[in-house]
Amino acid sequence: MTITAVVNLKGGVGKTTVTNGLAHAAAVQERSCLVVDGDSQGNSTMHLTNYTANNSPENSFADVLDREVDLPIEDAIIASKRPEIHILPSGFSDLQGVQDTLVGKPGGEMAVQRALKPVKDKYDHILIDCRPAIDLITRSAMYAADNVIIVVQPESDAIAGFDAIQQAIDDLAEYMDKHLKVAGVVVNQVDGRRLDHAKSLDYLRAYVKAADLEILGDPIPMLADISKLTNVGMGLDQHPRPTPRSRNLAENFGTILKATR
Ligand SMILES: Nc1ncnc2c1ncn2[C@@H]1O[C@H](COP(=O)(O)OP(=O)(O)OP(=O)(O)O)[C@@H](O)[C@H]1O
Ligand SMILES: [Mg+2]
Repeated sequence: MTITAVVNLKGGVGKTTVTNGLAHAAAVQERSCLVVDGDSQGNSTMHLTNYTANNSPENSFADVLDREVDLPIEDAIIASKRPEIHILPSGFSDLQGVQDTLVGKPGGEMAVQRALKPVKDKYDHILIDCRPAIDLITRSAMYAADNVIIVVQPESDAIAGFDAIQQAIDDLAEYMDKHLKVAGVVVNQVDGRRLDHAKSLDYLRAYVKAADLEILGDPIPMLADISKLTNVGMGLDQHPRPTPRSRNLAENFGTILKATR
């Protein structure tokens, strides 16, 4: 059993895409997997289920975290469109509301750990799709996690993002005695035609090595198929017209998943 938080403060880098890719890889590897949607945008929930912000699930992560409701987590977890993958759906705006009430409550940072406790031994992997901010829920997810994956794009501001995450990890160690392991860095949305991406990738590799971290798997290219399949809750292994490239992409997620064990 491993709890992995997928993080970056920067929006749109691919946290949700990578979380979903890893969940599908777990299904391929016949490892049980729970996706926890820790983002009030609810993108993982929308991809993996038919729920949306306007048609939200009756029970959600928000109800589990809400101390007034105190819903048992088992009552909120549902099977996704790919039944092997389970999901704890976001709760959308309710999740934001709960986060706001938890701030300042004793043990607020322990909320996610407390929520996951009853099911943590039931799954080989629990993947937490975090929102692009170090708010209480993200900090609490990091507190609950065994390790984190940092998703970056090969852009010049990627390094600034690292420093912010590193600061959050250092704060957990200093103030909460939580020593969070970085499973590694996943580079996403690489455009092979862009010279600046090639340069940023070189720079990232050197930076990651100097920080004693590791880039997991191969950098993930920018490809419409990745987005299209993820958005409908499918894995690259379920490509309707598989190609060597789609198989490689699916295998790459499998390689990255193995690094989190
Ligand atoms: N490798 C890729 N190839 C093509 N499109 C991608 C790829 N990775 C992500 N995308 C697309 O880029 C957008 C942002 O990706 P995603 O939602 O995974 O990022 P995020 O980090 O979770 O964003 P947020 O910070 O808003 O939660 C989405 O439309 C997604 O489909
Ligand atoms: Mg996301």
